[in-house]
Amino acid sequence: SEYNVAIVGATGAVGTRMIQMVEESSLNVKSVKMLASSRTAGTKVKFKGKDYTVEETTPDSFEGIDLALFSAGGSVSKKFAPEAVKRGAVVVDNTSAFRMDPEVPLVVPEVNSEALQDHNGIIANPNCSTIQMVMSLEPIRERYGLARIIVTTLQAVSGAGNRAIQETLDESRDVLDGKKVTPKVLPVAGDKKHYQQAFNVLPQIDVFEDDGYTHEEWKMIHETKKIMCEGDMDSDAIQVTATCSRVPVPVAHSESVYFEVLDKSATVEGIHEAISNFDGDILEDDPANQIYPQPINAEGKRETFVGRVRPDLENKGSFHLWNVSDNLLKGAAWNSVEIAEYLDKMDLLRVPGFTK
Ligand code: A2P
Repeated sequence: SEYNVAIVGATGAVGTRMIQMVEESSLNVKSVKMLASSRTAGTKVKFKGKDYTVEETTPDSFEGIDLALFSAGGSVSKKFAPEAVKRGAVVVDNTSAFRMDPEVPLVVPEVNSEALQDHNGIIANPNCSTIQMVMSLEPIRERYGLARIIVTTLQAVSGAGNRAIQETLDESRDVLDGKKVTPKVLPVAGDKKHYQQAFNVLPQIDVFEDDGYTHEEWKMIHETKKIMCEGDMDSDAIQVTATCSRVPVPVAHSESVYFEVLDKSATVEGIHEAISNFDGDILEDDPANQIYPQPINAEGKRETFVGRVRPDLENKGSFHLWNVSDNLLKGAAWNSVEIAEYLDKMDLLRVPGFTK
């Protein structure tokens, strides 16, 4: 079929990539509508070389829309996604607004596309850090089973939006020029204090919970379980724990992942083979030739790059790996558009019970 597509947050860091991913997608696009806030309404964005005027998002924006891709913050999704579904638009939501709703599938297509069967109009796109972690671990889980995951992330500033990218670039220039910096956005725009990100690492992404974990760390734990343990966000089948940090890299997150498999006969060669054969993963692991994944090489690519696979020398069945992926593409825009492509191929790109 042909689809009328709306992009909510079309002027943002993720939204601009969503436009590009829709341009390059296998979807048969009849029309596109570019939505954002009143701040940018009236400005122009390009789609396939043609200018489109950005419009302010209202409930009626979704009249006649078949597919709405949201990436304008959780509160915008909470307000407008139900309005879109009411008007017959399937929503793929890149925010955390609906990820833990038991009625809403949380999907990385290569890992759990079967969860799409049960959708009620909204499909949630996982957190960027969760996506690249499950992409690197699913081939290993399929072959050897997974008991435990301990992850440390090194996340790019673009995950916090265009203002965070600009702030980090400005700070970098100011530091080199010997000027004073005045952080206003990072680590978290809505939190009380702000710190310099340029030439610095901040072990805080999203706000702190009472238990001492950040909300980003909470997301990695529960989203991973929901995706890998048949929808059970509290499953104890796989133990997961996380530390999330922000590094002064513009685009592409890195993760150091320590994991324990169930089948203790697992080998590095077997893990290499599983990753190489997994759709969407690229193995870059050749220490003798200094080959390993790096953010500057992953930017602009859709794949998850995996390397540094090595056993814990004192603990049989436990391993390390290092993964890198473009947080704005596989971590956000590409995964969302890929979900839409799967829905289309599975004949599920419609709101159940809605007749046009
Ligand atoms: P706008 O540019 O009009 O403010 P980023 O992640 O780079 O910060 O981008 C956020 C995106 O979300 C932008 O496209 C922004 O539009 C959009 N956005 C923010 N608030 C709203 C809102 N209340 N309604 C619709 N879009 C919004």
